[in-house]
Amino acid sequence: MATKSIAFANQKGGVGKTTTVISLAACLAEAGKRVLAIDFDPQANCTSGLGLEKLEGHSVYDALLNGQPLTPLIKQTPYPNMDLVPSEEDLAAAEVDVARVDNFLQRFQIAVAPIHASGSYDYIFVDCPPSLGILTMNALVGVDRIVIPLQCEYYALEGLTVILRLVEHLRGSGANPALDVDGIVMTMFDSRTNLAHQVVEEVRKHFHEKVFKTIIPRTVRLSEAPSYGKPIIHYDKHSAGATAYRSLAKEFLKRQLAAEAAVVATLAPVVPETPVPPAQPAAAPPTG
Ligand SMILES: Nc1ncnc2c1ncn2[C@@H]1O[C@H](COP(=O)(O)OP(=O)(O)O)[C@@H](O)[C@H]1O
Ligand SMILES: [Mg+2]
Repeated sequence: MATKSIAFANQKGGVGKTTTVISLAACLAEAGKRVLAIDFDPQANCTSGLGLEKLEGHSVYDALLNGQPLTPLIKQTPYPNMDLVPSEEDLAAAEVDVARVDNFLQRFQIAVAPIHASGSYDYIFVDCPPSLGILTMNALVGVDRIVIPLQCEYYALEGLTVILRLVEHLRGSGANPALDVDGIVMTMFDSRTNLAHQVVEEVRKHFHEKVFKTIIPRTVRLSEAPSYGKPIIHYDKHSAGATAYRSLAKEFLKRQLAAEAAVVATLAPVVPETPVPPAQPAAAPPTG
């Protein structure tokens, strides 16, 4: 399978982007998929949430600004099949500095191309910062798909409209004509509140099967896991949060298979080869 890259984006902070990147990546890695997470947020929560140190100069900054290769920045995580391009505070300057260079929207697309081409990973997950600035735009221009984590709360739908408009714009303007929404993940669901149920119902009414069936519950264990630098399936593998993200991983993989099958179906049918007639024995030379 070709490498597929996915940005996890939502301009709101605290909606579960980083938690979903770390948890889903860990579940896929556990299932044998090779995953590279790229921390695109200067807050570097994805880096610390995987137990890695933030180190000055170790972020995508130079790759975006100066075209330096991304590959030397890749760090192994403590978990098999799962690598990370870390982040640190200085990446914040990219919002200003990258805006001044040529092709400022294509910088990530160019930087990530060799990793795509190497086929070293099944999935590249980009953990976007909580804004629709230069970093998120670069991520959205450079990836194949977007997953939108959405908190089950009142303003969720309004925020969703804004980011979907941006996706439409990037597609229509030709910046990323093939960009598509892989799915919407409802996060931090509190089954005791009517509001949470209403929000899920409303989002499903508008976006139908784009919304993943799996809903991520609000749990204490999920909120604790980052302080131990561990994905939920390694922090408490039998917790409700771990079960939910495993279920999301299954659904995610099924969607990828369905998408691949749809591509295969568009290919021209194979024309059966015309059978080659068996070779005739050479005619005997005339006698007489
Ligand atoms: N399902 C959940 N239940 C409880 N806490 C959660 C859940 N998902 C995320 N959190 C916590 O909420 C905070 C924000 O989540 P995070 O994934 O960092 O959001 P974002 O990356 O969108 O800013 C973090 O402290 C995280 O540990
Ligand atoms: Mg985050």
